[in-house]
Amino acid sequence: MRDFYVFLGPPGAGKGTQAKVVARNKGIPQISSGDLFRENLKDQTELGIRANQFIKVGELVPDDITIDMVKERISRTDCKCGAILDGFPRTPAQAKAFDEILEETDCKINQVPYIAVPEAELIERLSARLTCRAKGHIFHEKYNPPKVAGVCDFDGSELYQREDDQPETVKHRIQVYEQRTRPLVEYYHERGILVKINGSQSIEDVTKDLLDLVDEVN
Ligand code: AP5
Ligand code: MG
Repeated sequence: MRDFYVFLGPPGAGKGTQAKVVARNKGIPQISSGDLFRENLKDQTELGIRANQFIKVGELVPDDITIDMVKERISRTDCKCGAILDGFPRTPAQAKAFDEILEETDCKINQVPYIAVPEAELIERLSARLTCRAKGHIFHEKYNPPKVAGVCDFDGSELYQREDDQPETVKHRIQVYEQRTRPLVEYYHERGILVKINGSQSIEDVTKDLLDLVDEVN
């Protein structure tokens, strides 16, 4: 049985920060739909250019484009032992499609850690987030600064501010989350696989809670 985990939470909750560490610890890939879109945009693919029309204004990319992209990614051999999904699914239609993809391959979701953080903190986190140009490593000017200003600790590439991290776009992304993604909390709760994690703790303490949870399952 493959180990799939869905990291759920609002923009800025720490999904990417935590998914990278937990994935490394478990030896399974982290699959971030947002990172996949940004890689496509960097390579100027048709998919990336189309998706960016939605991303830059804080809207969700349409379900059919997103589902096909993630389905292709999950079918690759590095996911044969499972994966951590970060930012997908984020609509009921995506959740249903993901269930069907897993059923076809006789897999299931083990746990859905829901990283909860109050809105005021989300805005503070995203307005000072720094993202690595090469691989999407994540920093924060105050809470997780790089060793050298403007340079990624892991690969030396440039750190930049995401276009969708402007305050007005962040507020809109949070509204979109409330309307379109929040229903998934109930969806997974009803299935008994949702576990609420206090995302307002330090990065290290959130990691500890997530690793305890994943170890408990195995
Ligand atoms: P995506 O890239 O997934 O953005 P998001 O969901 O808005 O989430 P973020 O990446 O902003 O936040 P995060 O939870 O990963 O937080 P992070 O770890 O970086 O999606 C971008 C766009 O792509 C979407 O708006 C949409 O348009 C499109 N898209 C993507 N997936 C889609 C889908 N499935 N369907 C349709 N469209 C889709 O942390 C944030 C900051 O806080 C960092 O600076 C970090 O250092 C800091 N931080 C983290 N944890 C802590 C802590 N405990 N204490 C203090 N600071 C912390
Ligand atoms: Mg992220």
